[in-house]
Amino acid sequence: MNNFTFQNTTKIIFGKGTENTVGEETAKYSKKVLLHYGGGSIKKTGLYDRVTKSLKDAGVEYVELGGVKPNPRLSLIYEGIELCRNNGIDFILAVGGGSVIDSAKGIAAGMCYEGDVWDLYLRKGTAAKALPVGVVLTIPAAGSESSGSSVVTKEEGQLKRDIGYDFLRPRFSILNPEVCFTLPSYQTACGAADIMAHIMERYFTNTPNVELTDRLSEATMTTMINNVPAALAAPNDYNAFAEIMWAGTFAHNDLLGTGREQDWSSHKIEHELSGIYDIAHGAGLAIIFPAWMKYVYKVNVNRFVQFAVRVWKVEQDFSDPEKTALEGIAKLEDFFRSLGLPTRLADAGITEDRFEEMAEKCVGSGTIGGLKKLDKNDIVNIYRLAR
Ligand code: NZQ
Ligand code: ZN
Repeated sequence: MNNFTFQNTTKIIFGKGTENTVGEETAKYSKKVLLHYGGGSIKKTGLYDRVTKSLKDAGVEYVELGGVKPNPRLSLIYEGIELCRNNGIDFILAVGGGSVIDSAKGIAAGMCYEGDVWDLYLRKGTAAKALPVGVVLTIPAAGSESSGSSVVTKEEGQLKRDIGYDFLRPRFSILNPEVCFTLPSYQTACGAADIMAHIMERYFTNTPNVELTDRLSEATMTTMINNVPAALAAPNDYNAFAEIMWAGTFAHNDLLGTGREQDWSSHKIEHELSGIYDIAHGAGLAIIFPAWMKYVYKVNVNRFVQFAVRVWKVEQDFSDPEKTALEGIAKLEDFFRSLGLPTRLADAGITEDRFEEMAEKCVGSGTIGGLKKLDKNDIVNIYRLAR
């Protein structure tokens, strides 16, 4: 096990009716906030009314900025920064999924940075602090409710880039599984693929002697495999969504990655897809992750055998570890397909004409990846395997 520091400071408030505490929680930080949300699902579901009532009851004034699109755009972040500056706002409340939370974090970082906030995403500048952010989560998926990251797309150039700072972790995140009942099945499935991917980016490592985090990761993946089909079959299954929602946070709050080298190639390769083609991040991962696995598994075949046997209950063929490893990958692919997700680029209508461009944008002349270092040529090969 490698040395590590672990500190996740997000307060999680979990369970039925918990969104009604948002006013009280927010008032601990500010009496004038930006209420940030997406394309309007929160208004249709009644969550908006409950959140605004709770804010009013706690004496918290709010200025609204809705309209965050999935794969959140830089232009709205600029708008949010201006709105906050003009209204003396010092706290951002995100009510939504990963896209709303990431947009809120972009505004929060931009508010405390003298230059252009996009420079932070390009690594041309470094943030020293950000406004505090609070969250009411509406979809188990990105894990942004307790991560320090924000992923944003600049429309010009279709560039999707991330930043990560500990001080960007939300101060609190309110998770009521009941709000998941209104999720379209496809969004539930995309979220599930993202959650699985966050675990697997950490699980596939060459670092030895990480049994505790291996076992925790396997338990979290098994929980997803057991509960996602149930949630899709009965979209008001509280118990299934409760498991999935907590697994989504657990998958990305950095605990499962402690003490080990992590990979993250599939995420980087996927971000080029959702940056250009504007597909759901989870759908892109359902396509890219199995292709990445098929490309790299020989580097550490025993780890892929462990994944197949412990997570997918594949019967181990001791004479042919590669066979067992490939069976595990096939099981993962079957699982994604059974959820109604695309597992090939063709399923998402993506052709091969921009593979070189995406690989170039992804890695330039450098490399990515922990389990196996990948250069531009490798990434083109992975896109080809995903056709
Ligand atoms: O916009 P609204 O109307 O709210 O509708 C959303 C959106 O259309 C809808 N939705 C969410 N909750 C709902 C609901 N509809 C009905 N009922 C509900 N309860 O679902 C759609 C997708 O929402 P979005 O926020 O885009 O989903 P997700 O949470 O998957 O976020 C995806 C974004 O997060 C980034 C991704 O790259 C992508 O841009 N990620 C952020 C990470 C982080 N900050 O740590 C890590 C991840 O790896 C990921 O990259
Ligand atoms: Zn992700």
